[in-house]
Amino acid sequence: MARRKLVVGNWKMHGLGSDFVQVEEIESAAAGHPQVDVGLCVPSTLIERASRAVPGLPIGAQDVHPADKGAHTGCLSTAMLADAGASMVIVGHSERREAQHETDEEVRAKAEAALGAGLLTIVCVGESLDVREAGDAVPTVEGQLDASIPRDADATRLAVAYEPIWAIGTGRIPTVEDIGQMHSALRQRLCVAYGDSGEAIRILYGGSVKGSNAAEIFAVEDVDGALVGGASLKAADFIPIIEAAALKA
Ligand code: PGA
Repeated sequence: MARRKLVVGNWKMHGLGSDFVQVEEIESAAAGHPQVDVGLCVPSTLIERASRAVPGLPIGAQDVHPADKGAHTGCLSTAMLADAGASMVIVGHSERREAQHETDEEVRAKAEAALGAGLLTIVCVGESLDVREAGDAVPTVEGQLDASIPRDADATRLAVAYEPIWAIGTGRIPTVEDIGQMHSALRQRLCVAYGDSGEAIRILYGGSVKGSNAAEIFAVEDVDGALVGGASLKAADFIPIIEAAALKA
């Protein structure tokens, strides 16, 4: 099935108002490649400013609280994100699963709330190096996916990001064979969960994606785009990844 490629930048805890020139350059590059969906998940402090500054570029958040409102100091609800101009959100990033001890159950609750609010929702999964070296990567990540994805999904608004933890920010990436094996296993699980609409859900690869390796990653079956950390901070690094996706669109 033909799926539009989706390339999303994850700025993590990087970015100030003075970095807006990067956001503007990314927006104009994205506009030049309308066959690719591009988005940028900025720190919450920049969501409103970014969505006003670049209305043509979908802006997202990097986390959300599952509740509508309440006594949750420091947290943001889906309605708050949407009100600030966000149209997408990342949930279950491994950095939050590790540092904030987020469980699959919590990730699922966040994903259900975000999808319910109409946000494009990127659910992250991925194995540690120990699990990869023990040969357990595929069943481990399948289990994580099964427990983290919403019970009832709108396939057009759900995406999954496979991000091996050991590949994030390290410059190391799995072989294209390993990426292909994982993405095809995840596709099968999505089809078990959602029937035919599992075919429409985009599965992104994330972890040390760069302009120099994007083309080979995007050529892998069932890789429908990328979640990009470090290489999304500078337009000059991010734009070649958008271009590589456009060539495979
Ligand atoms: P990286 O991060 O591209 O810097 O490896 C990816 C991510 O954590 O989403």
